[in-house]
Amino acid sequence: MVREEPNADIYERALALAHRHALAWLAGVDERPIPPHASPDDIKNRLGRELPVQGTADAAVLEHLVENVEPGLIAIGSPRFYGWVIGGTQPVALAADWLVSAWDQNAGLRAITPGAAAAEELAGEWLLDLLGLPAECEVGFTTGATMAQFSCLAAARNEVLAAVGWDVEVDGLSGAPRVRYIAGEERHATMDLAARYLGLGRPLVVPADGQGRIDVNALRHVLDAGEGPAIVALQAGNIHSGAYDDFAAAIAVAHAASAWVHIDGAFGLWAAASPSLRHLTAGFEGADSWSTDAHKTLNVPYDCGIAIVRDPAAMHRALGMHASYLQATMVGADPHEKAPELSRRARGVPTWAVLRALGREGVIALIDRLAASAGMIAEGLAELPGVEVLNEIVFTQVCVALESDEATARLSAALWEDGEVLAMTSQWAGRTVVRFSVSNWRTDAPQAQRTVDAVRRTLASIR
Ligand SMILES: Cc1ncc(COP(=O)(O)O)c(C=O)c1O
Repeated sequence: MVREEPNADIYERALALAHRHALAWLAGVDERPIPPHASPDDIKNRLGRELPVQGTADAAVLEHLVENVEPGLIAIGSPRFYGWVIGGTQPVALAADWLVSAWDQNAGLRAITPGAAAAEELAGEWLLDLLGLPAECEVGFTTGATMAQFSCLAAARNEVLAAVGWDVEVDGLSGAPRVRYIAGEERHATMDLAARYLGLGRPLVVPADGQGRIDVNALRHVLDAGEGPAIVALQAGNIHSGAYDDFAAAIAVAHAASAWVHIDGAFGLWAAASPSLRHLTAGFEGADSWSTDAHKTLNVPYDCGIAIVRDPAAMHRALGMHASYLQATMVGADPHEKAPELSRRARGVPTWAVLRALGREGVIALIDRLAASAGMIAEGLAELPGVEVLNEIVFTQVCVALESDEATARLSAALWEDGEVLAMTSQWAGRTVVRFSVSNWRTDAPQAQRTVDAVRRTLASIR
């Protein structure tokens, strides 16, 4: 076919079609079976593997996409989706995300895309205020927590090496003093990934207690046993237990050894915004950098991570760049000095929209609701025959096990087969567990009850 020339009408038809299908998806997401029911190969066959020689009308492409990809979609937005740590999407965030795509701002330069930069800067300032972190911190928007960790550790690595007279930005890492990267036994695996990208190697591992909290005495021993530049990674929210490290004690120990302290709080950092949960993060404001996600607890659509660094100049030095053809801002820092990319979408705008829509009270209510629903699920599951809740419920994570690893794995598989609740297996405390990570903004008391009922029914079916 001969493709039509682009004009406003073409946008209108394509977007109206996308709008209709998006609403149909969202309307069905609560009741459809949560898991996908086709493999990537099935979907590739359905989509057609050959690159067409001739073009296809936009409407036909979109219809073809929706019809054939649909069996391969997982209902991540379901209020009974507890896999990994994955948020849904709040309406205002989704709508703002569509606008971000339509506006198509390359959000790297402050002077060139001031609208996007302003919304992101406000979102950053509001976040610091909500979390109770120092207002002078710099905030960057990344694809996710992994790249937020990377951004913070890049600043950390360069600063701890600069303190011993080594300029990584000029001299690279070859021949540099070794940076001791130290982290707890139950750190998230992506902390290792971020460290690997930065040439920091494997961490020196500090033992953790039964809930996964770093052993502060052991941390002191590890720090005392060596010398030279050091970075200590702590955790706000263990993916199995939800536990928080003892920040006040661990930060004091780390700072006494001149180490940079980073806190991975991909989902758990948000507890700091809630008066009833803030005690979990006590002392966390003493760290040097923090990473979190908006696409988890805040429920903006994928993707949006957040990197926070106390010393803005350290972040800018590690991540920024200069080129004569780029119009650097004269006032403040450019967005590309706060994230790994130069060109990127204005992914902080949906975060601004959610914060504006919820306000302080709405954010607190969201966080408290997630934690309360986790508590209800844990209580309900603990009453089911043979189900043991393994962790102390402090935030949004619930880990359960049956009488044997095989039985626990069977429960998760049966839940997947049933489709009403999605909760995946993991290994924790030497056992196979099923994790319920309560991260969806719509998981409330009725959904928690429905979850327990569905697990009861599924359990009976495998007994
Ligand atoms: C504690 C923790 N840290 C880091 C990450 C990585 O986040 P992302 O997948 O957004 O990169 C996760 C993801 O679940 C997490 O739970």
